[in-house]
Amino acid sequence: MKLRTCFLVIAATAFTIALPALHALDNGVARTPPMGWNSWNKFACDGLNEHVVRATADAIAGNGMKDAGYVYVNLDDCWQSGRDAEGNIVVDQEKFPSGIKALADYIHSKGLKLGVYTDVGTKTCAGRPGSIGHEYQDARQYAAWGVDYVKEDWCNTLPGQNAEASYTLMRDALAATGRPIVFSICEWGKNTPWLWAGPIGNLWRATDDIQDCWNCKKPWGGNGVAQIIELMGAPGVESYAGPGHWNDPDMLEVGNGGMTTEEDRAHFSMWAMFAAPLLVGTDIANMSADTKSILLNRAVIAVDQDALGEAARRVKKDGDIEVWSRPLADGSRAVTLLNLSATPVSTGVAWTEIGYPAALRATVRDLWSDKEVTDQTDHYAAQVAPHGVVMVTIKPHN
Ligand code: GLA
Repeated sequence: MKLRTCFLVIAATAFTIALPALHALDNGVARTPPMGWNSWNKFACDGLNEHVVRATADAIAGNGMKDAGYVYVNLDDCWQSGRDAEGNIVVDQEKFPSGIKALADYIHSKGLKLGVYTDVGTKTCAGRPGSIGHEYQDARQYAAWGVDYVKEDWCNTLPGQNAEASYTLMRDALAATGRPIVFSICEWGKNTPWLWAGPIGNLWRATDDIQDCWNCKKPWGGNGVAQIIELMGAPGVESYAGPGHWNDPDMLEVGNGGMTTEEDRAHFSMWAMFAAPLLVGTDIANMSADTKSILLNRAVIAVDQDALGEAARRVKKDGDIEVWSRPLADGSRAVTLLNLSATPVSTGVAWTEIGYPAALRATVRDLWSDKEVTDQTDHYAAQVAPHGVVMVTIKPHN
């Protein structure tokens, strides 16, 4: 008997048993958090065009990123300019003179996948046409072009527009095309999406727009990396993530220049702890060696992509010092010691804080220095740089 049927039978025969979350979206994609690139954080509206996208795809295919798992090449806002007399979406001819189908073919020829962006309202955040009233028509067009990923934003909604219903409509429209398409819900965490989005989207933004800075809350809601980490520490939010349905703390700012290398490393590490989509937001074709080495840390990526799909929980907070832990499929733990303060600190994690007995012997591997300590018992301690992390795996052995 299938697990799902089994649960239903149990639930039907014992009315006191609450139904578990049975209906997480199962459209066959994003079984691990999606990885790739999105145009917005670096190129925004003005800088987006087909040359940038092709150059980015070339770089991803040639610099090791594709092999590391980065496959989605996603257009954000401003690829679309209007609708024709039949209501079909019209591509911005200045930015994409060759059209989206040609771009999709090119990206597919590199072994990569293409994403597009739309909005549940009348217009996107940059004032381009939204999908309201055109959901099925747009989904059919995306599928005909060969689109593999759709992000749907939350600007210019109608008064009282319901988020759950709006995103359900697009989910159904995408499903009706028969093409496997990752569906990314982007309502900025406004309607506690983790409570309802699991059956609807493969990922949902849990927080407002990321800013390229460590600590810089904006009055309109934008967040620096430190603020997003605090929001992701809200008790229980992590429990809604799992294979096919992920919390999205927004796209990466690694390499965009607003943070130090240490901060970029901490940002990337924490996103891996959250089991977050790893959508690079920088100019990949022209990135620095430091940025490349962060984005290509295979050990950190492996934590993000771990098959168990269980996101990290904050197990300790002592002022600006935090410890986050996530269980991995092989029974080990990924643990990150995070220093939010501006001075170096010595800190550590006790085995009992991450669900291990104190006497357990483990191998601890530091994922950034690549150093390993064997036969470690009871705890692991380290010095953590300002706005930095020490990220380790702790693997029990005999
Ligand atoms: C919103 C989204 C961003 C980006 C812009 C585009 O702010 O949250 O991720 O898509 O719109 O206009």
